[in-house]
Amino acid sequence: MGEESLFERSNEVNDFVSGELDSLLQDMWDTMAAEEGAGLAAPQIGVNLRVVVFGYDANPRYPDEPAIPETVLINPVITALSDLIEEGWEGCLSVPGMRGLVPRYTHIQYSGIDQNGHLIERKASDFHARVVQHECDHLDGILYPQRIKDMRYFGFCQELENSGLMAPQPCDDDKNKVR
Ligand code: NI
Repeated sequence: MGEESLFERSNEVNDFVSGELDSLLQDMWDTMAAEEGAGLAAPQIGVNLRVVVFGYDANPRYPDEPAIPETVLINPVITALSDLIEEGWEGCLSVPGMRGLVPRYTHIQYSGIDQNGHLIERKASDFHARVVQHECDHLDGILYPQRIKDMRYFGFCQELENSGLMAPQPCDDDKNKVR
């Protein structure tokens, strides 16, 4: 956070058959796996293109959350399916060591192009919906702290736990692992 390109709107992908896209996606999956993240957006590794990846079978960082299918979304579009909004704790690879309470739509539909050039259209709710909204925000230059309504609920993971504001959860470890 602080890096200018993270606050820019990223560009649509027009070339779906380039080897560049393949290597970008590989870099993104590798980075996400190394950080044990739930998702990653291309601008987070310095590429301002509208590409996100997310999903896992089981994630040590979110032991209580159900699996999310491993998904590539290029040029994604999100539509809220209701006005229902819920606040939940989020972290971000680009904001290491911190957590914030962020309001998100609980029910969304999302679409985009996958790594094979096929259209994906899906409905998602709760944590799955939260992850997709968080990642797609990156493509519009929005980091989750910008969505926090009450900045008392933004802080260092361990401090938020110590103060009882946030339920204990896997915090970033010594190696500064974040999502
Ligand atoms: Ni993020």
